[in-house]
Amino acid sequence: MKLIIDTDPGIDDALAIAYAALHPDIELLGLTTVFGNVTTAQATRNALYLSELMGLSIPVAAGAVKPMKLPPFAPKTRVHGPEGLGDLPAPSPFAKAHDMTAAQFLCDMAALYPGELVVCPIGPITNIADALKMDPAFAQNVDKIVFMGGALDVRGNVTPYAEANAFHDPHALDAVLSSGANVTMVGLDVTLQVLLNDQDFTDLANKKNGIGVFLKDLGRFYLDFYQSIGLNGCGLHDPMAVIAALYPALFKMETLSIEVKLEGEESGQTCRSQSKERPTCRVSLDCDAHALRSEFFKVFDN
Ligand code: BDR
Ligand code: CA
Repeated sequence: MKLIIDTDPGIDDALAIAYAALHPDIELLGLTTVFGNVTTAQATRNALYLSELMGLSIPVAAGAVKPMKLPPFAPKTRVHGPEGLGDLPAPSPFAKAHDMTAAQFLCDMAALYPGELVVCPIGPITNIADALKMDPAFAQNVDKIVFMGGALDVRGNVTPYAEANAFHDPHALDAVLSSGANVTMVGLDVTLQVLLNDQDFTDLANKKNGIGVFLKDLGRFYLDFYQSIGLNGCGLHDPMAVIAALYPALFKMETLSIEVKLEGEESGQTCRSQSKERPTCRVSLDCDAHALRSEFFKVFDN
């Protein structure tokens, strides 16, 4: 599977990138970056660093620095740490970002591999909305867009209504969901069904692939945050979008039209749309948590 991950790394973003880098059936063509857990500049720096750490030599293209319509915001450091990598200091990667913007890179790669490219947005979905605007053929060229975001039948995680990625750019998410592209939503309905705890990070660190030691360092900070909100484990949010792209059968999905609330206290809420004109997408409502957990861990034996 030819894959581009659009990311705001971010601790669970790092887990998703590691999973993709290690999976034998994933050809990671590049990373595109966006604001969210950190600023776009930090996200780009972290993405370059994570690629180097995982021995990847792939383009990293920097994307949007603010939401489509909402004002820019300063990232909160409580969940992913001041630099996005828990309590690790700011990394200094050797490589530089690609000279194309994220949206241009996405359009070019989709045109180069029509019907083959899978895009996994795991931060606010602004770059994908920009790509759809930039190239009318992008929606058809791309095979599928499998995004982490939204919360349909469960409460949000930044407000009672909204999941963080949807909340940070609701206009972009609404544009993607109404574009007619092949879209799959992997939201909190499923991503909080698979929690990683302290023992899981220790197990990762003891796996054959040494990257688990680094991920355990990040995990400590993430687990502390989850503990502070009463959960004994962190959601496997971002990796689950990548796993859903490869193994949709591990999820119970329904074909629905989804719209995003754009104002007021419900801003960022994803809901079923009554409009007949709105295209449908696949929405993950339930999952085989046990199989997903095994699938995630399996790649670290490589
Ligand atoms: C999403 O928000 C971010 O904090 C995570 O990286 C994930 O993409 C979960 O709501
Ligand atoms: Ca993310």
